[in-house]
Amino acid sequence: MKESAVIFDQLVNERRSVRIYDADAEFDEGAVKRSIDRAILAPNSSNMQLWEFYRIKSPEALKKVAWMCMNQKAAKTARELVVIVTRRDLWRQRQRALLKEIEGVYEGKDDKGAKRAIGYYKNLIPKYYYSDPLDIWGIIKKLIYFFVGLSRPMVRHGNRADIRISVHKSAALAAQNFMMSMKAEGYDTCPMEGMDSKRIKKLLGLPRKAEINMVIGCGPGSEKGIYSKRFRVPNEEVIFEV
Ligand SMILES: Cc1cc2nc3c(=O)[nH]c(=O)nc-3n(C[C@H](O)[C@H](O)[C@H](O)COP(=O)(O)O)c2cc1C
Repeated sequence: MKESAVIFDQLVNERRSVRIYDADAEFDEGAVKRSIDRAILAPNSSNMQLWEFYRIKSPEALKKVAWMCMNQKAAKTARELVVIVTRRDLWRQRQRALLKEIEGVYEGKDDKGAKRAIGYYKNLIPKYYYSDPLDIWGIIKKLIYFFVGLSRPMVRHGNRADIRISVHKSAALAAQNFMMSMKAEGYDTCPMEGMDSKRIKKLLGLPRKAEINMVIGCGPGSEKGIYSKRFRVPNEEVIFEV
């Protein structure tokens, strides 16, 4: 096994959801910044980066958000909370930024690759992310996919629920990057979806279409913070070879 795999294996095995943090141990806040920098390097759908990261640092804000996390110890004792937010409403801004970037990359070129890449962001992305209040466009897309899909492989996601799933998938990958990075920095984390997303959204002043993906408690973990031995169902139940 490569040295990097040995280190990664150790990190994966050592990362646990830690529910109690040590109030006295040293905590380098820079580790959170570096870990968010690494989180945003996570793979994400069409590189649209429809996510935001809010660091909850002040004692007052920490207290409020911990309360909104049902006063779970993982939130109450955390030295910092990171709220991961999905922003499907920002698709137009991201599309423009990506289009500009890609047009720059392909400047002066008019080949098939350039046309395909530019066309993807110019034409396909708006068709995917546009959503009307009644999601009628989403229903139309699903019907098109169904009929086209009768004769050839076709993507099936396209309505509002599918877009929400898509942005949450990408945000969760960023969350995992963040947690693994914190472990590499010598700190612990606990992802939480047991929280009042409506209240947190209001506190952060987020618009209607923004959604809370998860809140991550972080800091130097206390030994008492690991509640039980790690358990996973047998591999045969979840890993298959085809
Ligand atoms: C999306 C998500 C939401 C979670 N929400 C909570 C939560 O609200 N409170 C909590 O104590 N743990 C929460 N967890 C942690 C899981 O309980 C934990 O990952 C699981 O039991 C496996 O343990 P491990 O992380 O130590 O391997 C959550 C994990 C994920 C991925």
